[in-house]
Amino acid sequence: VKRVIPFVCAPGDAEAGDWLEALRCAMPDENVALLAALDAPARATCTVAIVANPRPEDLRTLPRLRWVHSVWAGVERLVNDLPDAAFDIVRLVDPRLTDTMAEAVLAWTLFLHRDMPQYARQQAARQWHALAYRSAQDTTVGLLGLGALGEAAAARLVGAGFKVCGWSRHARSLPDVTTYSGLEALPDVLRVSNILVCLLPLTAETRGLLDAAMLAHLPVGASLINFARGPIVDEGALREALDTSHIRHAVLDVFDVEPLPSQRWEWAHPNVTVLPHISAPTDRDTASSIVAAHIRRYREDGTIPPCVDRVRGY
Ligand SMILES: NC(=O)c1ccc[n+]([C@@H]2O[C@H](COP(=O)([O-])OP(=O)(O)OC[C@H]3O[C@@H](n4cnc5c(N)ncnc54)[C@H](OP(=O)(O)O)[C@@H]3O)[C@@H](O)[C@H]2O)c1
Repeated sequence: VKRVIPFVCAPGDAEAGDWLEALRCAMPDENVALLAALDAPARATCTVAIVANPRPEDLRTLPRLRWVHSVWAGVERLVNDLPDAAFDIVRLVDPRLTDTMAEAVLAWTLFLHRDMPQYARQQAARQWHALAYRSAQDTTVGLLGLGALGEAAAARLVGAGFKVCGWSRHARSLPDVTTYSGLEALPDVLRVSNILVCLLPLTAETRGLLDAAMLAHLPVGASLINFARGPIVDEGALREALDTSHIRHAVLDVFDVEPLPSQRWEWAHPNVTVLPHISAPTDRDTASSIVAAHIRRYREDGTIPPCVDRVRGY
């Protein structure tokens, strides 16, 4: 009997079939199957599963599970929903996704830096008016999170000529980036950031981190890009900062509720750009190859790739 690897996704996931096909193609020696297709004896043999937004109760039907490989980069739901689960969580770290995110950070930083929201408003009013130009060299981008995504974004911004500051939990050193670490240093980063980019994971420590008191450290007229997770930014505090023009513009790709409900204020706010969680989508083919390589190694010598630290939360 071929050992089976369940693919566990949310019920009704429209992409389940495409994932199954890509995963089977990337690991022809393995038997990858939808969880629903497996009976209890088959489930009892599984020590590894591949997951995409699984329901916690589905994972509890796999009694011998040692680890799960997520096909997403952010795994806060897995960590929160199954705090006492015995298995390890491996998240996707994919150079393709990293590159896509770095591109998104550069694209939307330039959108803000070159005043595109204001020029769009002026065009709508048939107004011919040149705004003062400020060079990239005179603009500081503050990056919150210097992990896989933050580090690559920093390099792209440095390459585009911006001054870049970065913030992480542990002290990090990156070429041409002024780095800060620890909560006590966050106000220092905010104070110098003309454009603030959030690439932090959502954890107990980062939930609500950018509240009214923190946002108040930003210079008047600063902008915000949130490509991480919605609840890191206090939504009420952000609205207030936008309404008072302390924050000039916010580009939001992530929200506490997704899809963003139609009655939410963000849709209609003149100083908000709403994006439907598209800054860095997983590439199904590269992700499947990475998962396949990790599972091949595990079959060879039992090695489980670096896992999420459940206490840290990322
Ligand atoms: N919008 C999208 O399409 C999209 C796509 C992919 C990912 N994401 C989000 O992006 C997040 C980051 O991804 P990643 O791969 O870069 O994660 P990562 O490699 O785990 O890096 C996380 C970074 O955040 C820092 N950090 C964590 N907690 C902190 C805290 N309390 N204070 C200060 N710094 C803290 C870490 O500090 P240390 O370096 O000191 O550990 C690290 O630099 C993911 O968790 C996910 O939610 C969004």
